[in-house]
Amino acid sequence: MQIRLDIKRQQSPDDKSYIQSIVYEYDDKSEVLSNALGNINKGGCKDTEGNDVSPLSWECSCLQKKCGACAMVIGGRPRLACDAKLSEFANEGFVTVEPLSKFPLIRDLSVDRSVMFDTLRRIRLWLETDAYDNDKVRDIAYESSGCLQCGCCLEVCPNFYVGGRFYGMAAGLPMSKIIAQSQKGNDKDIRQQYKKHFYSGCGKSLACRNICPAGLDADRVMASSNAAAVWKRNVYKKK
Ligand code: SF4
Ligand code: SF4
Ligand code: FES
Repeated sequence: MQIRLDIKRQQSPDDKSYIQSIVYEYDDKSEVLSNALGNINKGGCKDTEGNDVSPLSWECSCLQKKCGACAMVIGGRPRLACDAKLSEFANEGFVTVEPLSKFPLIRDLSVDRSVMFDTLRRIRLWLETDAYDNDKVRDIAYESSGCLQCGCCLEVCPNFYVGGRFYGMAAGLPMSKIIAQSQKGNDKDIRQQYKKHFYSGCGKSLACRNICPAGLDADRVMASSNAAAVWKRNVYKKK
């Protein structure tokens, strides 16, 4: 089997971007894009114009859909390269591969996503007291902890941009965990931050629904956080 990979290349943010097309051969229907990118970087690969393909810059770590590092725009949709099977695009015969567009570009498919981690630090996303705990809290905390900080939800969110007051679902979900766990502690501060940096900026467009590679049920988590942070209802109390 073969597929054409149309990869967006850019040496640096100041250089012009271009699309480099590479015909990639594979035998296994379950082969994923991250594998193809790794093989291309082993060298000796030519593009469809006959030019040598220089090493592609891209990021990965776990290669098991656990870390979020390999997020990129694949076939027009933000996804994890280690979860995108080449055979999914067999009918089209090609797939476009581009970097996430909401973050500063480093090179090729690598972007600087440090804004997400800086945001979590800035909003002091940690508990200063013991965690409040019961089945309901644990349920929300478990769901929220599944966030990979991949940035896929931010890519499709019409309201998120780097430097803005709205921090997006990548911050909203982790904040929900602390809101649930901090019923007896620093909850006032985190609730205010949630209102200011998530609730008031989220247009409820739900463009981020069904995008999350971790399959998180953001609607359910947000319903609890909205009730607690905005309407001051303690939805985490055991009945
Ligand atoms: S619901 Fe819409 S505005 Fe809110 S985080 Fe999702 S995509 Fe962004
Ligand atoms: S909510 Fe989902 S899509 Fe958004 S950063 Fe977390 S894991 Fe990625
Ligand atoms: S490399 Fe970790 S999610 Fe893809």
